[in-house]
Amino acid sequence: MSPFLLTRTLPEDATDAALRADVLEGLTRAPKTLPPKWFYDARGSELFERITELPEYYPTRAEREILVGRAGEIAAASGARTLVELGSGSSDKTRHLLDAMPGLHTYVPVDVSESALRQAGEALVAERPGLNVHALIADFTAGLDLPETPGPRLVVFLGGTIGNLVPAERAAFLGAVRALLAPGDALLLGTDLVKDEAVLVAAYDDAAGVTAEFNKNVLNVVDRELGADFDPDAFDHVALWNAECEWIEMRLRSRTAQTVKIPALDLAVDFEAGEEVRTEVSAKFRKEGVRDELASVGLELTHWWTDEEGRFALSLSGA
Ligand code: AVJ
Repeated sequence: MSPFLLTRTLPEDATDAALRADVLEGLTRAPKTLPPKWFYDARGSELFERITELPEYYPTRAEREILVGRAGEIAAASGARTLVELGSGSSDKTRHLLDAMPGLHTYVPVDVSESALRQAGEALVAERPGLNVHALIADFTAGLDLPETPGPRLVVFLGGTIGNLVPAERAAFLGAVRALLAPGDALLLGTDLVKDEAVLVAAYDDAAGVTAEFNKNVLNVVDRELGADFDPDAFDHVALWNAECEWIEMRLRSRTAQTVKIPALDLAVDFEAGEEVRTEVSAKFRKEGVRDELASVGLELTHWWTDEEGRFALSLSGA
């Protein structure tokens, strides 16, 4: 048996069909929206990497601080023999966890990016002889079929990405994750926490303008993939705190009245001057809220770790 397996559960053309459906649905309703998952083409992924290094963008550093300090406790509490990572990307932060799990049997990174999975998976099996890596090319928001591997299983979802889902989507997602877990299995979830508004807004509207570029990049994606004629410079980046929903919203605001053509959809989209497209919500959490959302899908919060400054949390919950 090869220690590195890669399985595709996502049809090659699924991404294109999903983008078309999302753009059509999002730009023909009021208010207009585009889902954040379309930020991450090669350029968007590179811009996100730069965001994680910005002085204002604390979540990545805060989460890494927790992982570095608590990896041993997490490994011991889970007793995992299989580690499943949803949205694994470069598996960069997960290294801390993997290093604390010498007895791990199989690592299952799940991502939509085949290149990221190959790169991370091949490096890992080279470094860790004896560790099986079974990578899945899959859209984990659409349900998952996991390989048969020994339990207990620890499913991890890091980065605070769960905050990109609105509450109804979170409930569906957590329910699907819960369905992957048997008694004794666990979920490790990264959540950014509610804090001072100025700190939050600065994290999504940095002085160097990297987040603005990242936000506008979704228009480049629609231009390239659907032949549209969006001019990213005809839109302004907006980041605001929605106090009622306790989430950051990113929007793109049309500078002028304009019409954008999207040939692949046979669509012309009108914008009024100042009209906005919501491109992302990034929810911020409180311990009680996380506990309740987990409980409503049958998961019990057992551990709660934060960074020293209390900006970000990792929670462990059990089935
Ligand atoms: C990777 C989804 C967690 O919501 O903070 C960074 C993405 N958006 N800056 C987040 C993001 C704007 C990020 N997540």
